[in-house]
Amino acid sequence: MHKKLFIPGPVEIHPDILAAMSLPMIGHRMKEYAVLHGRVTSGLKKLLFTDGRVFLATSSAFGVMEGAIRNLVGTRCANFCNGAFSDKWHDVTLRCGKKADAIRFDWGKPVTPEAVELALSTGKYDSMTMIHNETSTGVMSPLAEIAEVMKKFPDVMFIVDTVSSMSAVRVPVDELGIDSCIFGVQKAFALPPGLAVFTASEKALQRAALMEGRGYYFDFMEFAANDDKDNTPSTPCISLIYAMDRQLERIFAEGLEARWARHADLADYVRGWVTSRGFELFPEARYCSQTLTCSSNSRGIDLAMLKKKLGDAGFAFDDGYGKIKGKTFRIAHMGDTTKADLSELFSEIVTIMPELA
Ligand SMILES: Cc1ncc(COP(=O)(O)O)c(C=O)c1O
Repeated sequence: MHKKLFIPGPVEIHPDILAAMSLPMIGHRMKEYAVLHGRVTSGLKKLLFTDGRVFLATSSAFGVMEGAIRNLVGTRCANFCNGAFSDKWHDVTLRCGKKADAIRFDWGKPVTPEAVELALSTGKYDSMTMIHNETSTGVMSPLAEIAEVMKKFPDVMFIVDTVSSMSAVRVPVDELGIDSCIFGVQKAFALPPGLAVFTASEKALQRAALMEGRGYYFDFMEFAANDDKDNTPSTPCISLIYAMDRQLERIFAEGLEARWARHADLADYVRGWVTSRGFELFPEARYCSQTLTCSSNSRGIDLAMLKKKLGDAGFAFDDGYGKIKGKTFRIAHMGDTTKADLSELFSEIVTIMPELA
């Protein structure tokens, strides 16, 4: 039995996308691929509000997150850490042999513009990483305010993971001055996993050109040279690129404003359901994510039992991530999810636990 996915990625896939993935194969050095690649990267540029480069990598997001470190971190990196994925990015930075410091926040708290300013004012860093939407804690950090601070530090590479926010909220890459914006497609894009997208500003490409040890697979220079021909350095996941092509068509048909409004509406709906049942939101209200709700298990319910019974009934439910597993639960409301889907999940939860009616 298929379990309908309410976990924060991968998420449910629309049948149109599955159909797009079964189109006949083409070769990536054929003209047909260049046409597809050009159309997809143009659509992504529109969605990301960027005139800079947009690259397609056949990888999960962490591949490119590592690639950005290898291409863009020179002297020392400030890794802003407020959850499991940002902690891991710090570890990745160190494992790439780079000098780096973790600037830590309690889980559930956002990265703040004040902390960014304080750290970068030391003059120690030539690069910083942060996660816009920490999927482990359901916290969305104030990216626009942080971007304002970053304008005071033009020599510091601004590297941002938008893995679980991109397409659900407005992230105007050029206006924010992001040097490399990175995301996978199995979250708010609602595509199967395996494709990652990243941008590179002119400044980022200049930095990369002089960087030693970029490796091959995620070498930004290789991506740029191939992108000039609407191509990728190595064989891409063409079926997923068909899927992205179709999803971009669907996203623009819905309209960006409408898509952002739908995500905001779903977030309100889920937060309303959770809090009206006596649960406390894990993040502070103004930093709650628009794509998933992370709730404290403040009623002390048996989350493992709930997860098991929901699974038996055909619903995949998440009982927390990393060190807050069992103490929190997360409900995703991103991609093609509708209120009807969520209401179906809530009805099933109430069937299992009538005290939550
Ligand atoms: C915010 C964030 N960054 C990075 C990742 C890692 O992505 P991937 O598993 O595609 O490498 C995830 C995965 O959930 C995530 O939520």
